[in-house]
Amino acid sequence: MSISQIARSISESVTLKLNEKAAILRAKGDPVIHLGGGEPKSPAPLDAILSTAGLLNTAEIRYTPADGTPEMKKAIIRYTEEHYDRLVEPENVIASGGAKQAIMVALQAILNPQEEVIFPAPYWVSYPEMVKLCQALPVAALPEDGTFYPRLQDIEEKVGSYTKAVIINSPSNPTGAMYSEEFIADIVEFCEKRDLYLIMDDIYHRLIFDGRKPINCYDYAKDRSENSKLILINGVSKQFAMTGFRIGWAVASKKIIEVMTNIQSHQTSGPAVVLQKAAIGAINGIQSGVEALRVTLENNRNVMVEQLNAFDGIKVTKPDGTFYCFADFSVYNKDSTALAEFLIDKVQVVTVPGVEFGLEGYLRLSFCGTIKDIQEGVERMKWALDLNSPNELYIGDRKLVRDWS
Ligand SMILES: Cc1ncc(COP(=O)(O)O)c(C=O)c1O
Repeated sequence: MSISQIARSISESVTLKLNEKAAILRAKGDPVIHLGGGEPKSPAPLDAILSTAGLLNTAEIRYTPADGTPEMKKAIIRYTEEHYDRLVEPENVIASGGAKQAIMVALQAILNPQEEVIFPAPYWVSYPEMVKLCQALPVAALPEDGTFYPRLQDIEEKVGSYTKAVIINSPSNPTGAMYSEEFIADIVEFCEKRDLYLIMDDIYHRLIFDGRKPINCYDYAKDRSENSKLILINGVSKQFAMTGFRIGWAVASKKIIEVMTNIQSHQTSGPAVVLQKAAIGAINGIQSGVEALRVTLENNRNVMVEQLNAFDGIKVTKPDGTFYCFADFSVYNKDSTALAEFLIDKVQVVTVPGVEFGLEGYLRLSFCGTIKDIQEGVERMKWALDLNSPNELYIGDRKLVRDWS
């Protein structure tokens, strides 16, 4: 069968595949602990549900404008004013089917074949594939100093005549690292100076710990005109625990939004109206759920880091935000895919191999589940890997005996 060249270059989303694998094993009755997931477990905000229910009760569920309903745009404008101290117009805003679609459509709007997009490594699994879908080239920039905190020079070194855009995600999936204010200021200034698009993926910007305050990229933007190449991405998935509602958005210059809207209009049309209603409810509603989630995640982070610190040979960088911990397991196996498979097979713990994020030898462990899952998940991993632990482990009433060395 003839498959397009682009399709052949794209790999499946490993994180979505692992979700599926965990669900299948669970359905079989296996006591799976899923430390590979990317979604908070709290319920969606009541305001989101009520506003959705109100619309559903009318039984009039129609198409919406390709860039979102006027009410949705108003909510995004309000959000941008409240969280970024920036007043934008409806023409500066597009609502999409998740932040994922907003990023994809933004890339399609700005990239020509063979152009390059730079992002710090480790990176979110979808960035390289999204860039490749545009027939452009992903360029990962691994911080030279061995940390998860890029410096401007790490990005600068990768810039060439084909460079079109930079993507920054802070705090970062998979490391949880929140980049310094200095770095954000530098990168905004650098992209303006070099006339590069800057996509700021702020999807986790409110889920940060230890008293940190979100960093506002606009604070460092000198170009506030309609020529600005800064594209801000956000959405309801993570902060409001609304991953299944699939609403994200972009804020950018009117020209960029116009082109993104044209593309989206032929791709999916506007996002589903019911889901936009839910997102509006969440954005305009009571915000206490976001803080409650943040506090829960910070507590979970502390438990996970403590557990991992007590795990012989594992190197951990304490996450500043998100719900991911990216830990160095290379002492046990340098092949992270083989290691992740071993952990599922032997102790039914799902993790995501670091190689998928551009760094081999690491595993991404999520702490968005329960404390019990975090503790038991890491305990099981320790039992499977650390040969100094006892030879037997009970999972419920199932007795496991280590028959590997
Ligand atoms: C860094 C990053 N950006 C964007 C997204 C996409 O979010 P959404 O669910 O809104 O499509 C994710 C989801 O995992 C993410 O981790």
